[in-house]
Amino acid sequence: MKFFVDTADLNDIKDLAATGLLDGVTTNPSLVAKSGHANFIELIKEIAAIVPGPVSAEVAATDYAPMLEEALFLAKIAKNIAVKVPLTPAGLKVCKHLSEQGTMVNVTLCFSAAQAILAAKAGATFVSPFVGRLDDIGENGMQLIADICQIFSSYPNFTTEVLVASVRHPQHVVQAALMGAHVATIPPNVIRQLFAHPLTDKGLAQFVADWKKSGQKIL
Ligand code: G3P
Repeated sequence: MKFFVDTADLNDIKDLAATGLLDGVTTNPSLVAKSGHANFIELIKEIAAIVPGPVSAEVAATDYAPMLEEALFLAKIAKNIAVKVPLTPAGLKVCKHLSEQGTMVNVTLCFSAAQAILAAKAGATFVSPFVGRLDDIGENGMQLIADICQIFSSYPNFTTEVLVASVRHPQHVVQAALMGAHVATIPPNVIRQLFAHPLTDKGLAQFVADWKKSGQKIL
Protein backbone atom coordinates (compact mmCIF):
# COMPACT_ATOMS: atom_id res chain seq x y z
CA MET A 1 0.00 0.00 0.00
CA LYS A 2 1.29 3.43 -0.93
CA PHE A 3 1.23 6.43 1.42
CA PHE A 4 0.85 9.91 -0.02
CA VAL A 5 0.83 12.98 2.21
CA ASP A 6 -2.15 15.28 1.73
CA THR A 7 -0.60 18.72 2.18
CA ALA A 8 1.12 21.61 0.41
CA ASP A 9 3.24 22.48 3.46
CA LEU A 10 6.90 22.19 2.47
CA ASN A 11 8.15 21.68 6.03
CA ASP A 12 5.77 18.79 6.60
CA ILE A 13 6.66 17.28 3.22
CA LYS A 14 10.41 17.49 3.91
CA ASP A 15 9.97 16.10 7.42
CA LEU A 16 7.85 13.14 6.30
CA ALA A 17 9.95 12.44 3.18
CA ALA A 18 12.89 11.94 5.55
CA THR A 19 11.10 8.94 7.13
CA GLY A 20 11.52 7.09 3.82
CA LEU A 21 7.86 6.05 4.02
CA LEU A 22 6.38 8.60 1.65
CA ASP A 23 5.36 7.48 -1.85
CA GLY A 24 3.82 10.72 -3.13
CA VAL A 25 2.03 13.99 -2.35
CA THR A 26 -1.46 15.30 -3.05
CA THR A 27 -2.35 18.96 -3.04
CA ASN A 28 -5.58 20.79 -3.76
CA PRO A 29 -6.49 24.49 -4.06
CA SER A 30 -7.53 24.68 -0.38
CA LEU A 31 -4.24 23.14 0.80
CA VAL A 32 -2.25 25.50 -1.46
CA ALA A 33 -4.13 28.51 -0.02
CA LYS A 34 -3.48 27.19 3.52
CA SER A 35 0.26 26.83 2.80
CA GLY A 36 0.50 30.61 2.31
CA HIS A 37 2.89 30.04 -0.63
CA ALA A 38 2.44 32.84 -3.18
CA ASN A 39 3.49 30.94 -6.33
CA PHE A 40 1.62 27.68 -7.01
CA ILE A 41 3.85 26.61 -9.91
CA GLU A 42 7.06 27.16 -7.93
CA LEU A 43 5.54 25.33 -4.96
CA ILE A 44 4.67 22.28 -7.09
CA LYS A 45 8.14 22.35 -8.68
CA GLU A 46 9.71 22.29 -5.21
CA ILE A 47 7.48 19.49 -3.95
CA ALA A 48 8.16 17.39 -7.06
CA ALA A 49 11.90 17.77 -6.44
CA ILE A 50 11.59 16.57 -2.82
CA VAL A 51 9.39 13.53 -3.42
CA PRO A 52 10.17 11.35 -6.45
CA GLY A 53 6.70 9.71 -6.45
CA PRO A 54 3.51 11.17 -7.94
CA VAL A 55 2.74 14.77 -6.93
CA SER A 56 -0.87 15.81 -7.58
CA ALA A 57 -1.35 19.35 -8.89
CA GLU A 58 -4.96 20.40 -9.41
CA VAL A 59 -6.42 22.42 -12.26
CA ALA A 60 -8.43 25.54 -11.38
CA ALA A 61 -10.58 25.90 -14.51
CA THR A 62 -13.91 24.09 -14.67
CA ASP A 63 -14.63 24.26 -18.44
CA TYR A 64 -13.04 21.74 -20.80
CA ALA A 65 -10.84 23.94 -23.02
CA PRO A 66 -9.19 26.09 -20.29
CA MET A 67 -8.93 23.01 -18.05
CA LEU A 68 -7.06 21.10 -20.76
CA GLU A 69 -4.74 24.06 -21.28
CA GLU A 70 -3.95 24.23 -17.56
CA ALA A 71 -3.56 20.45 -17.36
CA LEU A 72 -1.04 20.35 -20.21
CA PHE A 73 0.91 23.17 -18.54
CA LEU A 74 0.92 21.49 -15.11
CA ALA A 75 2.02 18.17 -16.65
CA LYS A 76 5.17 19.86 -17.98
CA ILE A 77 6.34 21.04 -14.52
CA ALA A 78 8.05 17.72 -13.73
CA LYS A 79 8.01 14.05 -14.77
CA ASN A 80 6.27 13.00 -11.52
CA ILE A 81 3.26 15.33 -11.80
CA ALA A 82 -0.18 13.73 -11.60
CA VAL A 83 -2.64 16.27 -12.93
CA LYS A 84 -5.68 16.44 -10.66
CA VAL A 85 -9.05 17.04 -12.30
CA PRO A 86 -12.55 17.12 -10.81
CA LEU A 87 -15.03 14.31 -11.40
CA THR A 88 -17.13 16.22 -13.93
CA PRO A 89 -17.78 15.58 -17.63
CA ALA A 90 -15.11 18.19 -18.49
CA GLY A 91 -12.67 16.71 -15.97
CA LEU A 92 -13.09 13.20 -17.35
CA LYS A 93 -12.67 14.44 -20.91
CA VAL A 94 -9.37 16.04 -19.88
CA CYS A 95 -8.48 12.84 -18.02
CA LYS A 96 -8.96 10.74 -21.17
CA HIS A 97 -6.88 13.13 -23.26
CA LEU A 98 -4.02 13.20 -20.74
CA SER A 99 -3.96 9.49 -19.96
CA GLU A 100 -3.88 8.68 -23.69
CA GLN A 101 -0.71 10.75 -23.98
CA GLY A 102 0.85 9.01 -20.96
CA THR A 103 0.34 11.70 -18.29
CA MET A 104 -0.70 10.59 -14.80
CA VAL A 105 -4.17 11.82 -13.80
CA ASN A 106 -5.81 11.88 -10.37
CA VAL A 107 -9.60 12.25 -10.60
CA THR A 108 -10.74 13.98 -7.44
CA LEU A 109 -14.02 14.73 -5.64
CA CYS A 110 -15.33 11.17 -6.11
CA PHE A 111 -18.30 10.40 -3.85
CA SER A 112 -19.95 7.37 -5.50
CA ALA A 113 -19.07 4.02 -7.04
CA ALA A 114 -20.74 5.13 -10.27
CA GLN A 115 -18.34 8.09 -10.46
CA ALA A 116 -15.35 5.81 -9.78
CA ILE A 117 -16.37 3.55 -12.69
CA LEU A 118 -16.45 6.59 -14.98
CA ALA A 119 -12.95 7.64 -13.82
CA ALA A 120 -11.62 4.14 -14.55
CA LYS A 121 -13.21 4.17 -17.99
CA ALA A 122 -11.57 7.56 -18.65
CA GLY A 123 -8.17 5.94 -17.93
CA ALA A 124 -7.43 7.73 -14.64
CA THR A 125 -4.21 6.72 -12.91
CA PHE A 126 -5.87 7.39 -9.55
CA VAL A 127 -9.44 7.98 -8.42
CA SER A 128 -9.86 9.81 -5.11
CA PRO A 129 -12.98 8.92 -3.10
CA PHE A 130 -13.34 11.34 -0.14
CA VAL A 131 -14.16 9.15 2.86
CA GLY A 132 -14.13 11.78 5.64
CA ARG A 133 -16.50 14.11 3.85
CA LEU A 134 -18.98 11.23 3.34
CA ASP A 135 -18.73 10.34 7.05
CA ASP A 136 -19.36 14.03 7.83
CA ILE A 137 -22.79 13.89 6.17
CA GLY A 138 -23.76 10.62 7.87
CA GLU A 139 -22.77 8.29 5.01
CA ASN A 140 -20.23 5.46 5.21
CA GLY A 141 -17.01 6.56 3.50
CA MET A 142 -15.22 3.24 3.94
CA GLN A 143 -18.15 1.30 2.48
CA LEU A 144 -17.59 3.28 -0.72
CA ILE A 145 -13.94 2.15 -0.75
CA ALA A 146 -15.02 -1.48 -0.26
CA ASP A 147 -17.50 -1.17 -3.15
CA ILE A 148 -14.98 0.43 -5.53
CA CYS A 149 -12.26 -2.13 -4.68
CA GLN A 150 -14.72 -4.96 -5.31
CA ILE A 151 -15.89 -3.52 -8.63
CA PHE A 152 -12.36 -2.82 -9.90
CA SER A 153 -11.21 -6.34 -8.96
CA SER A 154 -13.74 -7.79 -11.44
CA TYR A 155 -12.28 -5.83 -14.37
CA PRO A 156 -8.56 -6.41 -15.03
CA ASN A 157 -8.67 -3.73 -17.75
CA PHE A 158 -9.45 -1.13 -15.03
CA THR A 159 -5.92 -0.11 -14.08
CA THR A 160 -7.02 2.90 -12.01
CA GLU A 161 -5.67 2.86 -8.45
CA VAL A 162 -8.03 3.56 -5.56
CA LEU A 163 -6.58 6.55 -3.69
CA VAL A 164 -8.40 6.93 -0.38
CA ALA A 165 -8.70 10.67 0.33
CA SER A 166 -10.19 12.92 3.00
CA VAL A 167 -8.62 10.62 5.59
CA ARG A 168 -9.30 11.79 9.15
CA HIS A 169 -7.78 9.15 11.47
CA PRO A 170 -5.57 6.04 11.53
CA GLN A 171 -8.56 3.68 11.37
CA HIS A 172 -9.40 5.03 7.90
CA VAL A 173 -5.88 3.94 6.84
CA VAL A 174 -6.13 0.51 8.44
CA GLN A 175 -9.57 -0.16 6.96
CA ALA A 176 -8.34 1.00 3.54
CA ALA A 177 -5.44 -1.47 3.78
CA LEU A 178 -7.79 -4.30 4.82
CA MET A 179 -9.90 -3.56 1.74
CA GLY A 180 -6.87 -3.63 -0.55
CA ALA A 181 -6.98 0.05 -1.56
CA HIS A 182 -3.80 0.92 -3.48
CA VAL A 183 -3.06 4.31 -1.90
CA ALA A 184 -4.11 6.44 1.06
CA THR A 185 -3.42 10.17 1.01
CA ILE A 186 -3.04 11.15 4.61
CA PRO A 187 -2.76 14.52 6.40
CA PRO A 188 0.63 14.98 8.15
CA ASN A 189 -0.87 14.79 11.67
CA VAL A 190 -2.57 11.47 10.88
CA ILE A 191 0.67 10.02 9.43
CA ARG A 192 2.34 10.91 12.73
CA GLN A 193 -0.53 9.29 14.65
CA LEU A 194 0.15 6.03 12.76
CA PHE A 195 3.45 5.67 14.65
CA ALA A 196 1.87 6.12 18.06
CA HIS A 197 0.83 3.53 20.64
CA PRO A 198 0.93 4.10 24.43
CA LEU A 199 2.35 0.61 25.00
CA THR A 200 5.25 1.40 22.64
CA ASP A 201 6.09 4.50 24.73
CA LYS A 202 5.66 2.60 28.01
CA GLY A 203 7.70 -0.38 26.81
CA LEU A 204 10.51 1.81 25.51
CA ALA A 205 10.74 3.79 28.78
CA GLN A 206 11.04 0.47 30.65
CA PHE A 207 13.77 -0.84 28.30
CA VAL A 208 15.73 2.41 28.60
CA ALA A 209 15.51 2.30 32.42
CA ASP A 210 16.47 -1.40 32.65
CA TRP A 211 19.37 -0.96 30.23
CA LYS A 212 20.70 1.89 32.38
CA LYS A 213 20.45 -0.39 35.43
CA SER A 214 22.45 -3.09 33.65
CA GLY A 215 25.35 -0.65 33.31
CA GLN A 216 26.17 -2.04 29.84
CA LYS A 217 26.91 -0.35 26.51
CA ILE A 218 26.55 -1.58 22.91
CA LEU A 219 29.23 0.75 21.54
O1 G3P B 1 -6.96 16.25 -1.07
C1 G3P B 1 -8.28 15.84 -1.10
C2 G3P B 1 -8.85 15.41 0.23
O2 G3P B 1 -7.98 14.53 0.87
C3 G3P B 1 -9.33 16.54 1.12
O3 G3P B 1 -9.63 16.12 2.42
O4 G3P B 1 -10.02 16.75 4.79
O5 G3P B 1 -10.49 18.44 2.98
O6 G3P B 1 -11.95 16.45 3.29
P1 G3P B 1 -10.58 17.00 3.41
